[in-house]
Amino acid sequence: MKLLIFDSYETQSQAVADAILSQVARKPESVLCLATGDSPLRTYQLLVEKAKAVRMDFSMTHFVALDEWVGIPPDNSGSCKYFLTKNLFGPLAISSDRIHLFDALTSDIKSECAAMDDIIQDLGGIDLMLVGIGINGHVGFNEPGVSTELYSHVIQLDEVTQKVGQKYFKERVEIKEGITLGFQHIRQTKMVLLIANGSKKAEIITKMLEGEITSDCPASILRKHSNSYVYLDSLAATNLS
Ligand code: PGA
Repeated sequence: MKLLIFDSYETQSQAVADAILSQVARKPESVLCLATGDSPLRTYQLLVEKAKAVRMDFSMTHFVALDEWVGIPPDNSGSCKYFLTKNLFGPLAISSDRIHLFDALTSDIKSECAAMDDIIQDLGGIDLMLVGIGINGHVGFNEPGVSTELYSHVIQLDEVTQKVGQKYFKERVEIKEGITLGFQHIRQTKMVLLIANGSKKAEIITKMLEGEITSDCPASILRKHSNSYVYLDSLAATNLS
């Protein structure tokens, strides 16, 4: 695992956007798994700007879901699908047959998980995954205590996630479960980037990087990944020794 610390959220986001673009330039048929959330927002704005400036061709690139809130419809602005469509797929004009997201309204969630696992396997695995970190250490919806042997699965959301997650929604919603890729996917992903910014992430970043490697802090498991990168702004890095 490599640690990169930037003086600001802006320079951090520039570097992450560049890393994604160079992956696609190197391998246009890349399979990307890009997180939603506040942390990657600026990365995606810059990615869109830079991609347009160089006329980057995404026509062969595939996008797979990291996670989704179970029971939240895709037209709810807090859903992961809505976020990705608005901030990435729409502006980059990604064709719908290249987008593989979880259906959070399905009545057969087990088959939904199995279908995602098959898609990822058929595509030859994920080339680049960009994840954030929750203040409880979660990655995607791999909540504290999760089994690291899982592929796609449904999980009871941690209380912290249920509470913090309200920030994405215009109105209060019940968010009790999430559907997520599992640590088996993360482990098998060729390159994993984790981003964190702001002082609210300083405590969990210290735990992730300097504490025990344990599924009680799921993000700490990334330290065992041979090609993982942690991008921090100086505020998230404040407490690091
Ligand atoms: P955030 O979410 O980017 O909105 O802080 C991160 C996460 O919960 O993974």
